Amino acid sequence: MRLLHWLLVVSIGAAWATSDTIGPVHEWIGYAAAAIVGARLLWGFTGSTHARFGDFVAPPRTVVIYLRQIAAGSAPRHLGHNPAGGAMVLALLACVGLVAVSGWATTTELLWGYAWPVRVHAALAWLLVGLIVFHVAGVLLASWQHRENLVKAMITGVKRD
Ligand code: HEM
Ligand code: HEM
Repeated sequence: MRLLHWLLVVSIGAAWATSDTIGPVHEWIGYAAAAIVGARLLWGFTGSTHARFGDFVAPPRTVVIYLRQIAAGSAPRHLGHNPAGGAMVLALLACVGLVAVSGWATTTELLWGYAWPVRVHAALAWLLVGLIVFHVAGVLLASWQHRENLVKAMITGVKRD
């Protein structure tokens, strides 16, 4: 799962780096990102405890309460994703999926030659950038509040109990 995460980061970086080039390179990199999201979705239903959606997807009310606790500096620590992190995981996976589907849609015969599908694809890609900024900010904030290096944990897989 950690490997999938960093492969996803690399593929989205590569998709951005190739977004000016029309042609199969950008498209296949985008499909690779979509495949990683697909694998993560499967893992979310069949994987180990903290990887399962059932372990970290919380109702919106719980997410709001947790966000208030973060603001007050009293958010409890979680070994898996905390409720806000869980909501962000879903938003990120959904957004990467939508970017890829909209990218594919621009290449179909039906939408060929129209300007708006590319605009939708670009807008979704920028929305993804916004989510990533909040995602990384959330990771840094949680690392600071709980005095633990979450980025290191996302590489080594080790978190203290
Ligand atoms: C393309 C950009 C990125 C995307 C799409 C992305 C997406 C995700 C997703 C979907 C998860 C959930 C992991 C899972 O349960 O499978 C996650 C977790 C995580 N990501 Fe990212 N990520 C991105 C960039 C980054 C970067 C740049 C960092 C480091 C600064 C980072 C650090 C982390 C950490 C530490 C976690 C685990 C959080 C926790 O312990 O709850 N991510 N990310
Ligand atoms: C999931 C990761 C992806 C990201 C982050 C991404 C991002 C972008 C961005 C930022 C642009 C530039 C839009 C503009 O001109 O303002 C672009 C263009 C484009 N993307 Fe993607 N994309 C992704 C996946 C895909 C996929 C899966 C396909 C198709 C199979 C695709 C097909 C295209 C096409 C055809 C263009 C534009 C070409 C043109 O300028 O006419 N993209 N993409």
